Amino acid sequence: MSATERALPMTVPAPDLPARVRIHEVGARDGLQNEKATVPTEVKAEFIRRLADAGLTTIEATSFVHPKWVPQLADAEALFPQVSGLPVALPVLVPNERGLDRALALGARQVAVFASATESFARANLNRGLDEALAAFDPVVRRAKDAGLTVRAYVSMCFGDPWEGAVPVHQVARVCTALMDMGADELSLGDTIGVATPGHVRSLLTELNGRGVPTGSIAVHFHDTYGQALSNTLAALQHGVGIVDASAGGLGGCPYAKSATGNLATEDLVWMLQGLGIDTGVDLGRLTATSVWMAGQLGRPSPSRTVKALSHQE
Ligand code: HMG
Ligand code: MG
Repeated sequence: MSATERALPMTVPAPDLPARVRIHEVGARDGLQNEKATVPTEVKAEFIRRLADAGLTTIEATSFVHPKWVPQLADAEALFPQVSGLPVALPVLVPNERGLDRALALGARQVAVFASATESFARANLNRGLDEALAAFDPVVRRAKDAGLTVRAYVSMCFGDPWEGAVPVHQVARVCTALMDMGADELSLGDTIGVATPGHVRSLLTELNGRGVPTGSIAVHFHDTYGQALSNTLAALQHGVGIVDASAGGLGGCPYAKSATGNLATEDLVWMLQGLGIDTGVDLGRLTATSVWMAGQLGRPSPSRTVKALSHQE
């Protein structure tokens, strides 16, 4: 038994939490999209293979966005076929119909559109106003559903926006319900700049339920800028949310949002869930080893506290 395997939290279940959580791993997409130096396609493919080997079952692979907007993911066509045979779900981001065409051509089965709760971020990220961007997603969602794909809809800036400040929950809910009405299967509530706190999370989830969005269709996507991602996740779990986005090693950031830092680290999340007795199917030792390997590829240590703690014990 390795030191990593020995160092597991004691399991003490807490009441009223989901029995199982599906982790939506975003390290290969959200985690890498902001990296300045080009990460070789083979390294990305190996990263995804190792994540699958560690037990993650939903691994966001890449984005079919404009290569000039996100140069790091310009190799989507080369990467996707290298991993598409893995026995895991491999969602990809599509910003428009052109992106959907590219994803369909490679046989992608899960796509994600990404909207914004604010006007400023819609313009910065999609070069469109909020409503114009939403209208453009309508044919993307419809065509994807007609082709039998699963569609996730991200909503960014759900808790605060670097240009507009606090974002009212009713404003977020309007965008969320529009995407559900289009036919999205799942919403992911993005705290792009990491400003949410647990009460705010609860309030948005309650607002969404009040507008007819079932908790079962909701995922949470917390960036960890202010160290709140895990507390916010616990608040979401207590509300019944069972899908949590996280990034191996805490990699991440959004190139079009100043002050966006890494996502909630998958290892930190798995540590907490194991302690709570919530099943994820993830092998924490293998996952940590993957993040240590990836940190070596990127030339800097992982920001994840759990990765630091476990790898120092080796
Ligand atoms: P645009 O410049 O307005 O595009 O960009 P356009 O529609 O005017 O088209 C201009 C040219 O781009 C055309 O080519 C199109 O064919 C081409 P031309 O006719 O001039 O030769 N084009 C494309 N080429 C390849 N793939 C495409 C594509 N689309 C158009 N998909 C666009 C609009 C949406 C494309 C651009 O703004 C874009 O790519 N944005 C992506 C930004 C991005 O990826 N951000 C990061 C992901 S979001 C995120 O990280 C947040 C999240 O993690 C949740 C959270 O934390 O909140 C999800
Ligand atoms: Mg993100």
